[in-house]
Amino acid sequence: MSLSPAFLDELRGRTHLSALVGKTVKLTRAGREMRGCCPFHNEKTPSFYVNDEKGFYHCFGCSAHGDAIRWMTDHQGLPFIDAVKELAAAAGLEVPQADPRAAQKAERAKSLHDVMQAAADWFVSQLGGLDGAEARALLDRRGVSASTQRTFGFGYAPDSRGKLRAALKDFGDAMLVEAGLLIQVDNKEPYDRFRGRLMIPIRDQRGRVIAFGGRIIGEGEPKYLNSPDTPLFDKGRTLYNLDRASAAARKADRVFVVEGYMDAVALAQGGVGEVVAPLGTALTEAQLERLWRMVDVPMVCLDGDGAGQKAAIRAAQRALPMLAPGRSLSFITLPEGQDPDDLMQQGGARAFEALVREAEPLVERLWKHELAAEPLDTPEQRAGLKRRLSDLANTIADPSVKSEYVAEFRHRFDQQFARGRQAGGFQARTPFFPYQQRRAGQKWSPPPAPVTDDAKAVRAAGGIDRVLAKAVLAGLIRHPAEIATHMEVLGSLKLADGALGRLFEAVVDVALEDRSRREGALDSQRLVTILTRSGFEQVASDLLRADTMPYSFTRKTADENKAREDLDEAIAILVSRPEVDAALADATSAMQCHFTDEAFERQVALVNEQRALDVRLANLVQANEDARALGTEDN
Ligand code: UTP
Ligand code: MN
Repeated sequence: MSLSPAFLDELRGRTHLSALVGKTVKLTRAGREMRGCCPFHNEKTPSFYVNDEKGFYHCFGCSAHGDAIRWMTDHQGLPFIDAVKELAAAAGLEVPQADPRAAQKAERAKSLHDVMQAAADWFVSQLGGLDGAEARALLDRRGVSASTQRTFGFGYAPDSRGKLRAALKDFGDAMLVEAGLLIQVDNKEPYDRFRGRLMIPIRDQRGRVIAFGGRIIGEGEPKYLNSPDTPLFDKGRTLYNLDRASAAARKADRVFVVEGYMDAVALAQGGVGEVVAPLGTALTEAQLERLWRMVDVPMVCLDGDGAGQKAAIRAAQRALPMLAPGRSLSFITLPEGQDPDDLMQQGGARAFEALVREAEPLVERLWKHELAAEPLDTPEQRAGLKRRLSDLANTIADPSVKSEYVAEFRHRFDQQFARGRQAGGFQARTPFFPYQQRRAGQKWSPPPAPVTDDAKAVRAAGGIDRVLAKAVLAGLIRHPAEIATHMEVLGSLKLADGALGRLFEAVVDVALEDRSRREGALDSQRLVTILTRSGFEQVASDLLRADTMPYSFTRKTADENKAREDLDEAIAILVSRPEVDAALADATSAMQCHFTDEAFERQVALVNEQRALDVRLANLVQANEDARALGTEDN
């Protein structure tokens, strides 16, 4: 269909813009214009103006700008053609049908929509019925609440070849086949496509059901069966949950891309509604475009396994040619073997948000990938890296973004290799990820040039997080009963020397002696007394007063159990961290010698373990800060 400029002008002329905008935005008169709070960004004082005479809206805060059609596409999220149709209908204008077949197609689409809605309703009724027991149990097991089930329209397709066909027979086989609900081979009897599956409706931007994903209830293949492409459903252009995510994304000014249906459902249930999922394929250009219409920097959060990480790199590469000033992607890395659904089940939105704060920009993700892709021991290999980086940058169409990438890659390359040269003999470094992980909340900055990134160096430093060690020590003095529980690990902890190390040993010694004498429970006061005799008075009482530390176990707390639990967790992190660091250092040296897929996977796995530890630590701090904010702790 082609629409003439004259028709579009007529359409604009007949549309009363402030009335249209006024349906969703409260406007008040301000001189010749109407004014309100901008719906495209968060604001408290109105800087959004609608000018009926000119037929424009404009925001002086965020520069959102457009006419009535633009309003329908950008604010209501409609495709252009639907925007025109809707405005035309409201204005009583007939949309010119250049092509009579288009009219037919539109008519048919309308009834296909009816079929899909009828099927969705029927699946819902089946979920509630006798046959639906297993599917209901599955939803329960996965923690999908009743209200989430309703919101997402979960249903059930009974294990039968003809029940849907019979229930929807009024539409006729031909239409059910076209809608992808029946399968017909040659001229044989058509039969139900979805049998014995949990049904998840896939909706378009406007919330109309256009396809289904069906999850098998038990084990079996395929795990998910999806609708085939139909006149309504083009898999590569669809994003699951787009209808609900658009509004949420505008509000939150962010949107997440996850792999699976259940990831999106779990996030939404946990309060993170701004989430979409491509349907089991790599992100297409059409999907990227769609995402960029929502926010400037969508966040890609794929599964923490090899496949997920490869898909992330593919998305990064595909996005490059389409970058524009301000428009990019960022990447969230999940702990090894987890998907967002798992993470939400285990740690809830807080664990997820902790990872969000660690998101990496596109340039960082690409750089790390290329750095780890090949060995870099010889000049030729390093030149190869240079070439790959420049090839990547050259795929960027936008000239200013391209030149920024060229400059940034060059800078990173120089930083990476310059130090080794100055120091005499060349030393190739492949710090796939910097050891110094950012702490939650810290802004991203380019990775520091690694100073000691081989296994030996990490081990020599003891690998202990001294700040955490101090907190743990303070916690042990406050909760001496915990010393006995962790005696073995604590004894084997080799803290770097210094006062802290000696105190650590003294505390363990006191507890050991105490255990052998069995003089009754070791309490905090007695421990401090003994430590004082050994000359540790000052340090020990300082630690007892350590209220600058952000942990429940370093304070006088109302909740002893919680403090002990947190302390256990802190000790687990303290002990694991050097092990993971050392293993990663080993893996990195191994990869410098010889790149293999396994070595790469191992490295990625270890980096993920590191991150998981960081997240756990951040959660300890966070949990305590939340508790303090609520006033549940005294000190
Ligand atoms: P996953 O295998 O990661 O699914 O596939 P999941 O979301 O973790 O599934 P659960 O938690 O075991 O139920 C991610 C997505 O890939 C598509 C689906 O869209 C799925 O949500 N997929 C996967 C298929 O289309 N077919 C399949 O057989 C498997
Ligand atoms: Mn998954």
